[in-house]
Order: sequence, then structure tokens, then C-alpha cells
Amino acid sequence: MVAALAACGGDTGGEPADDGQITLGFSQVGAESGWRTANTKSIQDAAKEAGIKLQFSDAQQKQENQIQALRSFVTQKVDVIAFSPVVETGWDTVLREIKDAGIPVILTDRAVDSADTSLYKSFIGSDFVLEGKKAGEWLVAEYEGTTEQVNIVELQGTTGSAPANDRKAGFAEVIGADPKFKIVASQTGEFTRAKGKEVMDAFLKSNSDIDVLYAHNDDMGLGAIEAIEGAGLKPGVDIKIITVDAVKDGMQALADGKINFIVECSPLLGPQLMELVKKVDAGEEVEARVLTEETTFTQEQAKAVLPERQY
Ligand code: AHR
Repeated sequence: MVAALAACGGDTGGEPADDGQITLGFSQVGAESGWRTANTKSIQDAAKEAGIKLQFSDAQQKQENQIQALRSFVTQKVDVIAFSPVVETGWDTVLREIKDAGIPVILTDRAVDSADTSLYKSFIGSDFVLEGKKAGEWLVAEYEGTTEQVNIVELQGTTGSAPANDRKAGFAEVIGADPKFKIVASQTGEFTRAKGKEVMDAFLKSNSDIDVLYAHNDDMGLGAIEAIEGAGLKPGVDIKIITVDAVKDGMQALADGKINFIVECSPLLGPQLMELVKKVDAGEEVEARVLTEETTFTQEQAKAVLPERQY
């Protein structure tokens, strides 16, 4: 206990030393994807740059670990807490505890479904519904003029997470306007490459005629590419592939013609998060919602931007 508190700059009474530096407790989802690794790096680099002391905790994709980390930040009396909630539900109790302790909270990347929005100061991150819609719009344009049924398989992100819920909903809304688009199988690949491969293997065994794969992130798409190649098919040609994120490995596969379209989701949230941390620590008003700016990439666009891609 003493060692843990000393590590966060505190004394044995649980108070961080008041050296004027802001202490930020940050609970990360895990290290499930290339996106997450880039996001962690962005937060760590930005904290260092801003002179903010970072207490970083990796929840290994488990809500109970995140709740434990958040409670430990309260015990440590950090100045601000930020976290990327692994799932949307089940946060009200711990958020109320943090509010009662007088510590401001910033949500990063993913939303919670709490009706009481006074439990957090701001939410910075992408519009995941819009990302799903962009994926659907590309598909609709790609199959314009064809009347045959288009069989789609979907690799969902972590069950119950905001990006999985919203990317599914946005995509379904757009393709739902045309009955020729049929989702023949949809299952979680947990945002990981290994699970993406495993589930795609199973999809290929139980569906003989797959036209399109929609994967909620690049990593699952990359795992699925291995499964498709293993089945003797050509990814990007025999099965068209749409993914979300635009991390370097995904962009490389897009430039190589193995993925057909990527919707960007930026992990570089660190600098804006540190700005918000400073403001809430100073008691300033902040925007309730800070949206990340994002684009989409075709194969030609990926070839052009790949050399300068940061992550
Ligand atoms: O919440 C953002 C999502 O989480 C990314 O799209 C995915 O790669 C990550 O694991």
C-alpha cells in the first residue's frame, strides 16, 4: 500500500504530494488492437508533454478491473479521472462514488449509457454510429445497379461496447434501405486478430457464398484475411472487406488490395484529453462532447498516405 501510494507520488495518508502537478488517473480498456496501442501511446506521450502525472491502469478488457482501478484512483485522491469504458452499461454506482469524492471524470473514446450526465464532465471521441453509416454507404455505392442478393458477414467488436453497438446500428440503418443486402452471419471477434480469424473460419465453413465482410476494426479484418486465404479465396476480390480504424497494418492491407475500404477512427486523443484535464482541474467549463475528426480511405488513398501514417 505504502509502495503503491509512493509510486503515485502520495504519502501514507493517501494524499498525492501537492507539488502543483496535476495527477490524472487513466483506466485503459486493454491492449486488444493496434488502435488501442496507438491510443495508449498518444495518452502517455501527451501527459508527459503537458507535465501531467499519469497513473495508468490496463483493465485487460474486463469491466471489474476498470471499476477496481477507478476506486483505487479515488483512494489515491488523484485530481482528475479519465477512462475508456470497456462496455456501455453498469457504471452509475462507481461514477457516483467518484462524484461524491469531488473528482471530475472525462470519458475518452467510448460512451457510458448513464442517464445522469452530471456524472462526467466531458466525452471525447468518435461518432461510432457515423462510422457504421460510412461503411454502409460505401457498400451501397459499390453494389449500385446490381439486383442480386449481397451476402454479408459481420465481425462485431467487444459485446456490449459502444463501438460494437453503434457501428452495427449505423451500418444496418444504411443497408437496411435495400433488401438485397443480407447479413447472413454476425458474431463478436472481440476486436482481436486471433478471434477475427477464428470466427471468420467458422463463417466460411457454414456459409458457402459470402460476398462481403464488414469487420468493426482492422485487427479482426486482418485475422479474417488469414482465414480467407487459408480457405483458398482472395481477400478483397472473392470477398470484399470493409473495416474501421485505419491503423498502419490495415492501411497496408488496403493498399495491397486485400481490404476494399476503411473508415477512419482516430486513436490520437492524448493532446485534446490533456487540454480537457487542465481545464476541469482548474474548474473551467468544458464542452460536454468533443468529437474527433475523421475520414475514410479507398485503396488508392491508402497508397498515397501510407508513407506518412503515424500509427
Ligand atoms: O473504441 C475504439 C475501438 O476499440 C477501436 O476501433 C478498436 O480497434 C478498439 O479495440
